Amino acid sequence: MRHPFPSRDSHVNSYGVRAFDHAMGLIDMLGLKEWRARTAHGIQGTVLELGAGSGRNAPWLKDDAVVIALDPDLELLRFQRAKGRLRGPAIVAVGEALPFRNSAFDAALATLVLCSVEDQRRVALELKRTLRVGGVLHAIDHVASSALTLERLQQRLAPSWYRMTAGCRIDRHTVDVLQAEGFEVTHRDNALKGVFIRYEAAPRTTTA
Ligand SMILES: C[S@@+](CC[C@H](N)C(=O)[O-])C[C@H]1O[C@@H](n2cnc3c(N)ncnc32)[C@H](O)[C@@H]1O
Repeated sequence: MRHPFPSRDSHVNSYGVRAFDHAMGLIDMLGLKEWRARTAHGIQGTVLELGAGSGRNAPWLKDDAVVIALDPDLELLRFQRAKGRLRGPAIVAVGEALPFRNSAFDAALATLVLCSVEDQRRVALELKRTLRVGGVLHAIDHVASSALTLERLQQRLAPSWYRMTAGCRIDRHTVDVLQAEGFEVTHRDNALKGVFIRYEAAPRTTTA
């Protein structure tokens, strides 16, 4: 039997970077733009933008934030540079193995990324490792709905959607994974029966 979510050989988006950017623009027009603005605008300091894609958050980032754009797809980062959307260094890497020292970042930004990573648990651990004490993950994502019938539909459609897109999962319980790996969710907005979420999460600090 074919695996419903086969491993990807490549992260390169088969539709091409322009089509990818247009798709993101369409999602922005449908309402994501306001959430992007609210999410990106509050971030300061040295920021890791995980899965930065075509750079759709760039207009909303504060001028004095130092933003390191990370994505496995070199073509997307090149596109960002060509469009003048890069705000600092661009690094080709995956969230599961971040090439940064411990506590390197004041904040992380991840919009529509944790739906796409191969191993959410490893990414959560890497974010926890590279955020400084008090650092916050600012994120937007789509996840399994809080409404059972909708979640069942998502589960049914997930394998086809995964193949049609560049590895996007619509059936994930992303926040549960983050919490299990030591994050505390400090803010959460929900839309469309909890399918779209905007949240802030910080590694829990342990007291001896
Ligand atoms: C749906 S796009 C979102 C792009 C951008 N964050 C935005 O909001 O427009 C998902 C992005 O995650 C990237 N990605 C996929 N797997 C990843 C991984 N394991 N680690 C980091 N980024 C990944 C993809 O290359 C793509 O740029």
